[in-house]
Amino acid sequence: MRHNTYIGFFLIYSLLTGLWVSNVQAEDKRTTIWLSETERNTVLEEMRQFLVASQAILQGTLDEDIDKVETAAREVGLKQLRGMSAELSAKLPQEFKAWGPQVHQEFEEIANEAATLGDANEILNRLAKLQTLCIQCHATYRLERD
Ligand code: HEC
Repeated sequence: MRHNTYIGFFLIYSLLTGLWVSNVQAEDKRTTIWLSETERNTVLEEMRQFLVASQAILQGTLDEDIDKVETAAREVGLKQLRGMSAELSAKLPQEFKAWGPQVHQEFEEIANEAATLGDANEILNRLAKLQTLCIQCHATYRLERD
């Protein structure tokens, strides 16, 4: 009986400290960017296209399908930079607006590499470097509806 009580205390103690630790880790230190529902959807849609393109670039490189790499990268390259409304632009921090175009520029350069030398190592290196921008921005900002 006594033994079971100890086990009970131990389990409750573990549960409580476990919850406390995960609460501390869950604290969100990122800067919030407030956007309308439509603006937020526009940004997130573009993000999902980034992920799709990154996967297609990896797959295309592994399969030695260089056309696939070029098409996927071009899709999110410089042409996607056009068309951001002035209203949305005004709500985005300067840093955010610096990193975004850099990502499009890097995708465009992957497309150019695919269209010319098509060197697999160069493409993978560029993608790996480009993804540090994804990570950097994700660690800094979050989006909320205003
Ligand atoms: C300039 C800043 C910035 C850059 C660069 C950036 N992201 Fe994001 N991304 C965000 C923000 C902000 C969110 C929303 C995060 C949140 O609210 O928690 C987001 C969300 C996402 C999401 C979730 C989409 C959804 O529907 O919820 C994906 C996937 C994503 N990004 C992929 C990428 C990839 C891949 C790259 C790089 C090729 C990238 N992002 C580059 C800022 C950025």
